[in-house]
Amino acid sequence: MNFTLRVWRQKDNASPGALAEYKVQDITPDISFLEMLDLLNHDLISRGEVPVAFDSDCREGICGTCCIVINGRPHGHEHGGTVCQLHMRSFQDGAVITIEPLRVRSFPIIRDLVVDRSSLDSIIAAGGYVSVKTGGAPDANAIPISKEDAEKAMDTAQCIGCGACAAACKNAAAMLFVSAKVAHLSRLPQGRVEWKRRVLDMVTAMDQAGFGNCSNEAECEATCPKEIKMGNIAGMNSQFLRAALTHR
Ligand code: FES
Repeated sequence: MNFTLRVWRQKDNASPGALAEYKVQDITPDISFLEMLDLLNHDLISRGEVPVAFDSDCREGICGTCCIVINGRPHGHEHGGTVCQLHMRSFQDGAVITIEPLRVRSFPIIRDLVVDRSSLDSIIAAGGYVSVKTGGAPDANAIPISKEDAEKAMDTAQCIGCGACAAACKNAAAMLFVSAKVAHLSRLPQGRVEWKRRVLDMVTAMDQAGFGNCSNEAECEATCPKEIKMGNIAGMNSQFLRAALTHR
């Protein structure tokens, strides 16, 4: 397979960027999108050119670092998957593919396709955890948890913090991400203890990081590689209101 790639090249956040065109040829249909970029970089390096900077870590759909915008969609055109799980066979032979970084003001560009997503870390640091005393691991059955709560907590715990939801949203809202983190902790007894402080602090940190607000566009749900549902945002808003009225 042969492709024309239009790749965003930008030296750093202070420099102007532009799309650069590259041809990649004789691509095996079964390689992943990231492996195709590896081959492009191999070619660029062998020609003495600067390789395209992009992020990846697990390459198994687990870590969320690989998120880039492919033909206008974070993680590309396939629903429920990450860039590292996207295969070249899903593109038409001869296609022109435009590759850009996540376009969110709270994710400044570091270089080319690599953005700084530490704003998401700051939201987690504000409350996305459970405070427990250290010691021996408790008996797994010591605290009964209903099947429904366990399953719903696990559904939202799947969020890999890739930032696709914010990049897909016209408001650059990170509410799907924050609501997933709030939901998976507050559904379990260990996390329920701190739910008021958590939702207030995480939403405040989200606002301080410069993310926008949800206006029910649902682009986040359509783009999320883990298929996190928008209903979590309504749940978070409800928790936030109750906490704001009764906490402090
Ligand atoms: S590299 Fe980890 S999810 Fe893609």
